[in-house]
Amino acid sequence: MNTKQSFAIKGDICFCKMKDQWTTMKNAYAVCETGISQGVFAQLPEQYAHFPVYDFTGKLIIPGLVDLHMHAPQYAFRGMGMDLELMDWLGQQTFPEEAKYADLSYADKAYTIFADNIKHSATSHACLFATQHRAATELLMDRMEQTGMISFVGKVNMDREAPDNLRESSAEASAQETLRWLYEIAGKYQRTKPILTPRFIPSCTPELLAKLQIIQQEYKLPVQSHLSENTGEIAFVHELCPDARFYGDAYDAYGLFGRQHPKEHTYPAIMAHCVHSTEEEIKLLRDNGVFVAHCPASNTNLSSGIAPIRRYLENHMHVGLGSDIAGGHTESILRAVCDAVQVSKLYWRLVDNGAVPLTFCEAFYLATKGGGAFFGSVGSLERGYDFSAVVLDDSSLRHPFALTIPQRLERAAYSALDAYGICAKFVSGTLLFDRTHSK
Ligand code: GUN
Ligand code: FE
Repeated sequence: MNTKQSFAIKGDICFCKMKDQWTTMKNAYAVCETGISQGVFAQLPEQYAHFPVYDFTGKLIIPGLVDLHMHAPQYAFRGMGMDLELMDWLGQQTFPEEAKYADLSYADKAYTIFADNIKHSATSHACLFATQHRAATELLMDRMEQTGMISFVGKVNMDREAPDNLRESSAEASAQETLRWLYEIAGKYQRTKPILTPRFIPSCTPELLAKLQIIQQEYKLPVQSHLSENTGEIAFVHELCPDARFYGDAYDAYGLFGRQHPKEHTYPAIMAHCVHSTEEEIKLLRDNGVFVAHCPASNTNLSSGIAPIRRYLENHMHVGLGSDIAGGHTESILRAVCDAVQVSKLYWRLVDNGAVPLTFCEAFYLATKGGGAFFGSVGSLERGYDFSAVVLDDSSLRHPFALTIPQRLERAAYSALDAYGICAKFVSGTLLFDRTHSK
């Protein structure tokens, strides 16, 4: 795939430099030079006059969206089995489906559909769980690389509390497969990177976590997992780890909780959900710079609860959004933006009347710069950012009076416009597809 191009795109531009402030420009140019955003301009500056211009006049242009947490193998059963809580849902829906990925021909079929759909979504950057299966994980990485998106993909580690056909036979076997996976993919991809993925504490013995810590330090890998999602899960963690002061402490004991390495390297971590985190856990999440992946649809579908995101923002913590396919039923991060706003209103009304609801602008910030920070300078069209952009045609949402650009974007999001197809997507300076000009 041709990478890091130079061009400009023209349209009605909308992004957030700060979490409560829009930057918008109508009929303007967003300029990309060898993959890096040069900023947005009312007129195309002289020094870029020779760049090709993609004309999307009248359409909305936003940064590519960031999905900090999703399970690629669960895409096949999204929107089904939504009547269960987390632990029963894992046992009855999720584990039987994930076991199928031992069969590479099934994995190929399912991951090809997944990659094709996610390529055509508004998501530019994603952090993905695969399954425990090494070969299928490599296949998913191949498919993701072919999309042109930027992703982290993790081979899942799980050596306890799962059916025999999904549980790895020992901590040693799990660690060995992880090392083999890292060996097989070393240097193979430009846009697809590995991330350590202990599924969650109930799935991982202390022996396995200790081995993953060694691998993490040797390969300098980030980590993704689940944290304090559901009350049933949390009670089980207390049973399994009586010595842990709180759930996150069980990861932190093995350096898998975003802690800074004493030398030059840091190992960032993403923890999905954080619905029921205690005071101590919140403090450690903040002190260790852990990214919270807020997954409002999943937290609703699996009756997990409502994460206190206002509190996390007031604490200056890293927060992004996750679809959590298939706890969440859709890969649309624009839908997640609306869900984040809606559940924050319920939290405010029903749980804590001091927790002011999120605005649409704040939630959009989480979907762009908030989660984007995990990838570096990602999630904005301001100068110096990695250039990723999505084009939306909202002309079908006819209206009898003039709307501002943020009003148009908000209505596009609440109307699930992206579910009917986006016009074009650019990721890290590369055009992935353009339905407007290829007609
Ligand atoms: N906790 C452990 N595994 C999972 C999973 O697949 N989905 C969700 N939502 N939570 C989990
Ligand atoms: Fe999840």
